Amino acid sequence: MAFSIVGLALLSLVSVSLAAKECPKIVTQKTFDVTKYVGLWYEAFRTDIIFELGSRCVNATYTPNPDGTVGVWNQAVNWLDDYTSIRGTAKVKNASEPAAFIVTFDNPIQKGDYNVITSNYVDYALVYSCENIPIIDIKLEFIWFLSRTKTMSDSVVNELKKILTDMGVDVGTLTRTAQNC
Ligand SMILES: *[C@@H]1O[C@H](CO)[C@@H](O)[C@H](O)[C@H]1NC(C)=O
Ligand SMILES: *[C@@H]1O[C@H](CO)[C@@H](O)[C@H](O)[C@H]1NC(C)=O
Repeated sequence: MAFSIVGLALLSLVSVSLAAKECPKIVTQKTFDVTKYVGLWYEAFRTDIIFELGSRCVNATYTPNPDGTVGVWNQAVNWLDDYTSIRGTAKVKNASEPAAFIVTFDNPIQKGDYNVITSNYVDYALVYSCENIPIIDIKLEFIWFLSRTKTMSDSVVNELKKILTDMGVDVGTLTRTAQNC
């Protein structure tokens, strides 16, 4: 997840909502303890976006860095059945909003928002990113449901979808990530 927001944005245009709508105003988790958030997460659902097409067994490992940033290590099996991984760094944008990050990847250079809308640290996390593309008047929206285990219960899935719907976000493009490795 969060493999790319900007770098591969063009590839994603056809699959991302083409509606000329602005990104919604979002509220990230107010009380956020990053030391409880770090560790291993499995991708349970994601918006079906072309650059991740076919990737499965996706997981993310977050590691606290001494300078307060968070190391990001995303791993997956791609559509060619090859193992892939990418490393980056997540940084809080403004200390007043501790669950709103910018993630930067070095190779290839990419960056994007990473907003934790809600997480109880031990089971689930809902991560949201949205970017307005002004000239062509669309938004690029990315949603990830993360789970501490390879599965996510239907009740949690429905709860997270309801949160998105209440935010005015279309949940129609959410697809379950195969965790069959
Ligand atoms: C994370 O994903 C990679 C790629 O699918 C896999 O090789 C690795 O075993 C996974 N890690 C865990 C702890 O499941
Ligand atoms: C951080 O957030 C506070 C409160 O919303 C705001 O007043 C301040 O300007 C922000 N700082 C930066 C660097 O954006």
